[in-house]
Amino acid sequence: MAAPLTLLPYDEDASGPARRPAAPARLLDLAIRAMNHCTGPHKDQAFADLAAGNVVELGAGGGSNLPWLPAGTRLYAVEPNRALHASLRARCDRAGIEAVVLPVSAERLPLPDACVDEVICSLALCTIPDAEAALAEVARVLRPSGQFRFVEHVAAPAGSLRGRAQGALRRPWGAIAGGCDPHRDTLARIEAVGFAEVHAVRGLLRHSPAWPVNTAVWGWAVR
Ligand SMILES: C[S@@+](CC[C@H](N)C(=O)[O-])C[C@H]1O[C@@H](n2cnc3c(N)ncnc32)[C@H](O)[C@@H]1O
Repeated sequence: MAAPLTLLPYDEDASGPARRPAAPARLLDLAIRAMNHCTGPHKDQAFADLAAGNVVELGAGGGSNLPWLPAGTRLYAVEPNRALHASLRARCDRAGIEAVVLPVSAERLPLPDACVDEVICSLALCTIPDAEAALAEVARVLRPSGQFRFVEHVAAPAGSLRGRAQGALRRPWGAIAGGCDPHRDTLARIEAVGFAEVHAVRGLLRHSPAWPVNTAVWGWAVR
């Protein structure tokens, strides 16, 4: 296993306002299963051949991506919502993944430059308030040739029925979905970071009942 990273000092209280409590563990399990039913094939592509080493996950939630992490991974799980930490830790234990849960925001990672092999992220760049800042941090902490893997729901083309519906839903959707923006052009933000390569597929989340918030992008970018 790779040597553990030296964390920079961080302010545990700077992770933002208190979030609402997490769902009971059983409900969270069901939600993760349902989400992975919709995103699983996309994760199979985006997270294929992850290097077992030091992996950072932005907005790790309850740990829906653990099945894609190879044995020998040390996961730095960035998750500001402390209400999710107990479930996240329990799921990491069950999966045999060594995890360091970081109660911080992705916009400011307590990690040195160029220290990480992989950064992964699913359905989080829609919710992270300053996605540009978080992506700049991804580029900062990845080592050269390190990869950023993502599966995100994104804005449908402007003017399309889905796009117009996403725009109209912004406020109510954000209120019920923890600040999620249903109409964010996340791929443009990833492409603006200056990665050496970006490989992205656009499509619909498989079997997702969440019309119109089912337009997605998945893939990887190389530092
Ligand atoms: C829709 S959930 C997705 C959770 C998980 N990635 C998944 O796919 O199941 C969005 C997650 O982003 C987290 N989040 C919100 N703001 C964040 C921030 N500034 N930095 C990092 N994570 C954040 C939320 O707490 C939540 O766990």
